[in-house]
Amino acid sequence: EEEKAPVIVQILSSYISYLGLIIVPAAALAAIRESSVPIVLHLDHADRLEDVYRAIEYGFNSVMLDVSQLSIKRNIELTKKMVNKAHPLGINTEAELGHIYRAEGLNPNKAIKGMTDYRTAARFVEQTRVDCLAPAVGSAHGTYTYEPNINFSLIEEISEKTKVYLALHGGSGIPDKMIRKAVKAGISKINVGT
Ligand code: 13P
Repeated sequence: EEEKAPVIVQILSSYISYLGLIIVPAAALAAIRESSVPIVLHLDHADRLEDVYRAIEYGFNSVMLDVSQLSIKRNIELTKKMVNKAHPLGINTEAELGHIYRAEGLNPNKAIKGMTDYRTAARFVEQTRVDCLAPAVGSAHGTYTYEPNINFSLIEEISEKTKVYLALHGGSGIPDKMIRKAVKAGISKINVGT
């Protein structure tokens, strides 16, 4: 509100398992109603389709299904189902492709495995029609103990080939100059949790 800027409030799926699907969106939606800026209520990292469906029912207007640990074929299948449910209701969708690690366990001297391939990303987006993609580009969730090693040219390639909104996960602790560079390369949404 001080910045007079719209914002996306994300609620982690595990939070909902802890507090319940009645209290969490009800509290968030009450705060949103009181706010003078536009706010999107987004479900972050749900790993079950049924949780996405229930979140939609309870008032979330943006949802993420993260089944990136499954095969790409299965990720496409399940993401498609989310999109088919959400789009007729005007709800935004996000999916994850590749492997985004925990920052605490990463060795800065080792190459990061499981980064998103831009050709796979293009196929994924074409087949699922998802609105926003969270690619693995070197950022990591949690507390960095080293400067994050973000692959900006990979962000550019993915952005160019998919033409969808890209979310940079693991935003806490990424230096401002890197955030700006990531936005220039094609990132639209920065996830800040920790
Ligand atoms: P951080 O907790 O590292 O900021 O990551 C947030 C995030 O990506 C949530 O999806």
